[in-house]
Amino acid sequence: MSNEVRKPIISGNWKMNHNHFEAIQSIQKLAYLLTKEDFVAVDVTIHPPFTDLRSSQTLIDADDLQFILGAQHCHEAESGAFTGEVSAQFLAKLNVHYVIVGHSERRQLFGETDEQVQQKVVAIQKYSMTPILCVGETLADREAGLTHEKVLGQVRSALAKRSVEHVRSMVIAYEPIWAIGTGKTATADDAQRVISSIREEVSKISSPMAASAIRLQYGGSVKASNIVQIMSQPDIDGVLVGGASLDSAEFARICQYRLRTA
Ligand code: PGA
Repeated sequence: MSNEVRKPIISGNWKMNHNHFEAIQSIQKLAYLLTKEDFVAVDVTIHPPFTDLRSSQTLIDADDLQFILGAQHCHEAESGAFTGEVSAQFLAKLNVHYVIVGHSERRQLFGETDEQVQQKVVAIQKYSMTPILCVGETLADREAGLTHEKVLGQVRSALAKRSVEHVRSMVIAYEPIWAIGTGKTATADDAQRVISSIREEVSKISSPMAASAIRLQYGGSVKASNIVQIMSQPDIDGVLVGGASLDSAEFARICQYRLRTA
C-alpha cells in the first residue's frame, strides 16, 4: 500500500522558540541554504509561534520564497470568549496552509482531548488548510504493549466522519512521546511498523485510495544524522522536526537528505 508517489514533507515545529526578529533571520538563512531543486523534491513547512506568523508570511511573499507557512495549534471554535486563543479562520487569513493539531505537548500540558482534536481537524479543513495530526504513545503505553491500540485509537477518533477527500489530503505525524526532545528515536524499522499500521487503519476507516495518498510523518529527535535512514522506509513520507529545526544549517541538511542517499 505504499506505491503511490507522495511528495515528502519536512516540517519544522519551532514550539515556543524564536521571536519574530529571530524568525525572519532563520527563514532568510534557510532560504540561502536551500535550492530550487530542494523545494521541487520536498515540501518544507515551517511552524513559528503565532506572533511570528505575520512577519514570516510577509517575508515569504515579498521574496517569493517556497516555504509553506504553518501554525502549531488553533482553537476549534470560529470566534468567541476564549481568552488567549486563535481560531482557524484567523490563521487562514495569514496564508497559513498547515496546522499542527493534537501535538503531545498540547495533549499532555494543556489537556487537549481526542474530541477537541477531532473538532480542530474539522475547523482547519473548513478553511482549506491541512492538519498535521500528531499521534503517539507514552513510554508506559509502549512498555505495556499498547502502542498500536493507543496510536490507532487516536487516528480513528480524529478522522471520525471525515470524507475520503478530507482524509487523503491530511498529514499524520507519528510521534512516540518518549522520543520527543529526548534524543531517543524509534528505530527506523519500528517507526515504519507503526506508520504502516496507521496506513492500514486509514484504509479501513476511510478508503484504500485515501490510505495510499495520505502523507505520514515520523517525529521525535529527528536530526541530519538519522534522517536518511528514517526516510528510506517505504511508508514514511516526511518528518516533523522540533529541536533540530531551530538550527537553520541542521534543518537545511535534513531537508537535503536526498543528496546523501545512495
Ligand atoms: P523533537 O520534537 O524533534 O525536538 O524531538 C519533535 C516534535 O515535538 O514535533
